[in-house]
Amino acid sequence: MPEDQLIDRYKRHLNYLRISITDRCNLRCIYCNPRLPGKKLQHKEVLRYEEILRIARLSVRLGINKIRVTGGEPLVRQGCCEFLEKLAAIDGLDDISLTTNGILLKPHIDTLLSAGIKRLNISLDTLKPEKYQQITGYDGFDQVWEGIQRALEKGFHPIKLNAVAINGVNDDELTQLAELSFQYPFHIRFIELMPIGKTAAPGAGPLLIPEIKKRIQTLGNLIPIRRTINDGPAMRYKFKDAMGEIGFISPVSNHFCSECNRLRLTADGHILNCLLSDVCEDIKAPLRLGLLDDDLKSVFLKAVARKPFQHPENLTLLTQPEPMVSIGG
Ligand code: 5AD
Ligand code: SF4
Repeated sequence: MPEDQLIDRYKRHLNYLRISITDRCNLRCIYCNPRLPGKKLQHKEVLRYEEILRIARLSVRLGINKIRVTGGEPLVRQGCCEFLEKLAAIDGLDDISLTTNGILLKPHIDTLLSAGIKRLNISLDTLKPEKYQQITGYDGFDQVWEGIQRALEKGFHPIKLNAVAINGVNDDELTQLAELSFQYPFHIRFIELMPIGKTAAPGAGPLLIPEIKKRIQTLGNLIPIRRTINDGPAMRYKFKDAMGEIGFISPVSNHFCSECNRLRLTADGHILNCLLSDVCEDIKAPLRLGLLDDDLKSVFLKAVARKPFQHPENLTLLTQPEPMVSIGG
């Protein structure tokens, strides 16, 4: 049993920690990573793997049982798979998953498998190589697709494919993306674009889930799937006779703050209690000062106590100054 519980003022049990292990990425997605040269963390500012593991172990003692590793792009950080192996060995963790852009997936598949990772979220906004390059700044579609196929062969499950839907960019491909769920056991997830940081994705007006749903329903009836406790914010559906699923994530049209069970650990050692907040608690400084677990625990408790009920209704008024690439999505 956890020694303490992370429960906030609104009685939400926080049992899910997203750990960003790097703010670096090998892509420059229009909605995430500014193309202008930005400030990157110095080596010494980034938490060492041993430090992250200590924080992760402590978090598990406080009731975290689900961890997702993100970036930037986690696979660009040296030693990522060895780190994942150590993370997976922590007693009390029920679920470990990885969010990746898939560029480095193929060469890492076997190591990920032996590290104990089964659940993958892979960004895939388009099925057209040229558009992939437009969106990410890199001609890497084939590389990612091969990585996805390899993950499938090796039995990773579920493989979730994340598509951020943007008007004028990939809105003409929503049905093709959804169609993949007939042929493959993928979970295709459509995500509303969040206007975060200084990244400006083009697009004439927002493309929201009700509209996306309407368009892909031309393929058939969407049958709702009962949500389970570990589902996170996606509303899940399935087409009749399809192998995979469709998920809708609507941070803009229908935010899911009231059910939020998340905390984040940033690559530079801050605990962030909301993706869209600029309030965070420094856990690196006390850790490097050699403080004991009890003092580090109070950093978690402080972050939890300050967790806002919800982010502002109007996302364009956000104070979050960081691009998504530094927070980990
Ligand atoms: N809006 C919505 N989702 C985003 N992601 C990154 N930036 C944004 C944004 N501005 C999500 C993508 C990506 C994951 C790492 O974070 O789905 O797959
Ligand atoms: Fe990199 Fe993922 Fe952000 Fe794209 S969405 S720039 S792949 S971190």
